[in-house]
Amino acid sequence: MKTSTDWSWHFRAWQAGARWDSTRAWVHDWLMSQPTAHDTLILMGGSAGWMMSPRFLERFATVVLIDIDPWAGRLFKWRHGKALASGPTSLQFVCGDAHTLLEEALAQHPRACLLFDNFLGLDTLHTRDLQRTAERLRAIRRKLRGRLWGSLHDRFSGPGTRDWARAACWQLGRLQATSGQPLAKALYESVQARGEWLDHGTDVIFEPGTSVRMIPWPLIPGRWHWLEAGWAQV
Ligand SMILES: C[S@@+](CC[C@H](N)C(=O)[O-])C[C@H]1O[C@@H](n2cnc3c(N)ncnc32)[C@H](O)[C@@H]1O
Repeated sequence: MKTSTDWSWHFRAWQAGARWDSTRAWVHDWLMSQPTAHDTLILMGGSAGWMMSPRFLERFATVVLIDIDPWAGRLFKWRHGKALASGPTSLQFVCGDAHTLLEEALAQHPRACLLFDNFLGLDTLHTRDLQRTAERLRAIRRKLRGRLWGSLHDRFSGPGTRDWARAACWQLGRLQATSGQPLAKALYESVQARGEWLDHGTDVIFEPGTSVRMIPWPLIPGRWHWLEAGWAQV
């Protein structure tokens, strides 16, 4: 995949302000729920860390940020430089495709944990093929056997009329995490979905039965994303 900067994404994130506060707080809670100590975090698709928790970053001696956006390293430092400087954390930036660089990164950092930070849900936009995306996502899972890894990603998105301040995060138990249609219906109702919704084809990311949180994200006014967040069991 070619390197590029999506300035409309950065502008939207910069502009979102308080509308994303609840989502950020839920993401922070989920990140901090991972109790295992690791020296290094490989952060895939971290962008400028618009939704990243500074307190989570401070847990690591080294954060290796991998993103196709050549500006991601500078913007991430701009947003999180203070937190990084006040603690022991150093940031390394590698510009490139996470799929291509995954094996090399795993070999270079044999004890690192990994976080796929809200980009796997974009895969169908690149492949334009649900089957191909499912294969790519399953391949990631296979390569990560034996590692601690987590992912936050789009599961569904579409128009909804729920006031963002009244949305709620869902904690799903082991069985519910895999239930397709009933889950989608309940999630749609909770944001007062209207019109057509997109299934991002990310249901294959976790092993069936993984415990996940479903986090609502009002990307722009009137448009909701349901993010699925989970830590894979090793
Ligand atoms: C929705 S943004 C991520 C938001 C980020 N987690 C944050 O808190 O700001 C998606 C990011 O993934 C990056 N990205 C998309 N596909 C990628 C790939 N194949 N490899 C690496 N980065 C990728 C994009 O450049 C973008 O920075």
